Amino acid sequence: MKYVFLTGTNRGLGEAAAKAFTDSRIISITRSSVENTDNIYKSFTMDFSDTDAMEQFVSEIFNSVDPDENDEVYLLNVAGIVDPVKAVSNLSAEEMLANYKVNVVAPTLLIQGFVNRFKEFGGEKRIVTVTSGAARGPIEGWSVYCSSKAAVNMIHSVLDKENIHQGNNIKSAVFYPGVIDTGMQEVIRASDIEEFPNLDRFKEYKETNKLAKAEDVAAALYKVVTLEDFGSEESYDVKDYI
Ligand SMILES: NC(=O)c1ccc[n+]([C@@H]2O[C@H](COP(=O)([O-])OP(=O)(O)OC[C@H]3O[C@@H](n4cnc5c(N)ncnc54)[C@H](OP(=O)(O)O)[C@@H]3O)[C@@H](O)[C@H]2O)c1
Repeated sequence: MKYVFLTGTNRGLGEAAAKAFTDSRIISITRSSVENTDNIYKSFTMDFSDTDAMEQFVSEIFNSVDPDENDEVYLLNVAGIVDPVKAVSNLSAEEMLANYKVNVVAPTLLIQGFVNRFKEFGGEKRIVTVTSGAARGPIEGWSVYCSSKAAVNMIHSVLDKENIHQGNNIKSAVFYPGVIDTGMQEVIRASDIEEFPNLDRFKEYKETNKLAKAEDVAAALYKVVTLEDFGSEESYDVKDYI
């Protein structure tokens, strides 16, 4: 049995991923409640902005299952936000921190909880965090989002080294999902062109059907996570699996 700890299960790519992992027990970790609970084995509610609560309760989430050595455990960090979409010159500390808590601190606390719970576990154990092309290329107005995803990439690179050094036998990688037709794209299209000069390009993606369906990206994510040699690469790109 696969036990899949999954964030963002209530909508967007996370919801599609919950449906794609049909052979798995999904342990859902969301801020909002999940409407479609068909495939959900256990459900936890948590606001990733509340880092104190996360530090306190993360171990409870990972202790909620008791896999045996024939089982597999996965952590899929999917939840994320793009805001604030603003030029660097207009950013406040509060809005920067709000993003970094959700995009960087929360997935890292979940990784920490997963590693501490399962480092001695003898079955297969894998971590994937959803990143973005924005981690690799600067986009005006997205300094916080770009840097949050670049931070996630580096945290994974460091984690890989630590897992080897500590003999944890945990495989991990980041996943580039491309542009997906989800609520995040709606937020992007509602941006102020003064802060986000690429606005028209993203509106055109929608108008010309360039956005991928969340179900197709989730199917690619499933393929990646279940690859025989998963973890041999530091990152996987949706375009190679869709
Ligand atoms: N869509 C794209 O084109 C695109 C491109 C590249 C990368 N990505 C990445 O793909 C991942 C999934 O994005 P998506 O497109 O599915 O976005 P989405 O439809 O906007 O969904 C975002 C998810 O993150 C959750 N979330 C936001 N703030 C939270 C908080 N404070 N605590 C807990 N959960 C919170 C949301 O929950 P609520 O419903 O409670 O807000 C929701 O489940 C993200 O990591 C994103 O950066 C997306």
